[in-house]
Amino acid sequence: MQVFYGSVINPETLTSYKASSNALLAVNAQGIVEWIVHDVQDSLIQETLLQKGCIEVEVIPLKDGQFIIPGFIDTHTHAPQLPNIGTGAQYELLDWLEKITFPMEAKFADDKFAEAAYPEIVRRTINAGTTTCCYYGSLHLGSTKVLADIVHSLGQRAFVGKCNMDRNSPDYYREDSPETSLCDTQKLIAHIHSLDAGSSGIPLVRPIITPRFAISCSNPLLTQLGDLVSSDPSLHIQTHISENRSEITFAKSLFPECKSYAAVYDSFRLLRRNTILAHAIHLEDEEMALIKERQAGISHCPASNFHLNSGIAPIGEYLDKGIKVGLGTDVSGGYSPSILNAIRNASIASKIRAMQANVGAKSSGQFKNNQLSIASLLYLATLGGAQVCDLEDHIGSFGPGKSFDALVVDVRGVAGNHNLWGADSEIAGTKSLDAMLERFLFCGDERNISMVYVQGRCIGGAGRS
Ligand code: GUN
Ligand code: ZN
Repeated sequence: MQVFYGSVINPETLTSYKASSNALLAVNAQGIVEWIVHDVQDSLIQETLLQKGCIEVEVIPLKDGQFIIPGFIDTHTHAPQLPNIGTGAQYELLDWLEKITFPMEAKFADDKFAEAAYPEIVRRTINAGTTTCCYYGSLHLGSTKVLADIVHSLGQRAFVGKCNMDRNSPDYYREDSPETSLCDTQKLIAHIHSLDAGSSGIPLVRPIITPRFAISCSNPLLTQLGDLVSSDPSLHIQTHISENRSEITFAKSLFPECKSYAAVYDSFRLLRRNTILAHAIHLEDEEMALIKERQAGISHCPASNFHLNSGIAPIGEYLDKGIKVGLGTDVSGGYSPSILNAIRNASIASKIRAMQANVGAKSSGQFKNNQLSIASLLYLATLGGAQVCDLEDHIGSFGPGKSFDALVVDVRGVAGNHNLWGADSEIAGTKSLDAMLERFLFCGDERNISMVYVQGRCIGGAGRS
């Protein structure tokens, strides 16, 4: 068994993330946290271990300037769009899809292209600290299998889906029929289920049904996908919703019988507790109520929402209403595969909403029209994401029985690392755990993520030998 000793930051609740500093965190051979003891003093480590009956343990002490947080969860990204990253800011969604995105995704018709591109793409998300990632592939079965294989071989926890899209897309990038789309989806599910679950017996890579968005799916396709997920309640679903005003108008015109955009997915039985809805910027009140009732989760992708001029989602209102919210990078709508970047943009987005609200009129809710706190940002990046993925019993925070999906963060400037903790912090008196966390969230990068653990196994990080 491994025991980590030092500063552990646990976003178990929105307000008490500080409570976990100086913890002993015991991780068994399967990467499961067996127990966690808070507020342990150096002199009491051996005694505490003896009390716990630990004889053969490897104690991994963390130094000043190092701390552990749960791994980041990216609830929405597009693997085949990474080659486009940083481009397209002059377009809004529908033109951007046509001019920038579909031409790139179409290149993944060639498995060889996917084999060359995907390893680097997945490696970048891992080193950015993403321990669980919800990937959209392209519409192709072959290259999405390649993506799943690479994620599996690199040891990341992930959901991998191939896009379902049989209409309102260019001839060169559209599925022939609902039947082809469904058949390829079933083959992908079988392929992912055939991947070895590893020593823990818990599969890290899981399939996810991925109707691109309502606009690109015909009624027969959505009906068949609804039948498929109804036959297996454990199947996750991901899609886009209410991102852009023109998109919403178009979607509503295609489904005049549905009261709202959310109602479209609901009418095809695609809205449920393991559904991940990306963006959700312009939801009507009725849609919020429906999403809450169905216990679906929202992936907040603020960098993409700024980049594509889509708008600013009212995340505070969703949190007040008890709707599940996590963060997404939405590459390449977003221009960074790092959840740190999503955190910064989520902070700015919340500040803009707060500034736009009536000055002086503090909202009655806890979150609405208020800026997100550091604790809330960390929560959205970890436990909030776990809830959106319907995995909160397994990941997102540290507690007995949860998997050790974690980052060792190092803010010291040692061995060429990125120094966030120089003499200035000494002078400013900001060497506290809170200050280190804040600096990491706002100024850190992958150089400060020394180790990336998934299910107790180190799979990446700047300090990995
Ligand atoms: N809506 C449908 N497809 C996409 C996509 O690839 N990116 C974003 N941001 N929105 C979408
Ligand atoms: Zn997206």
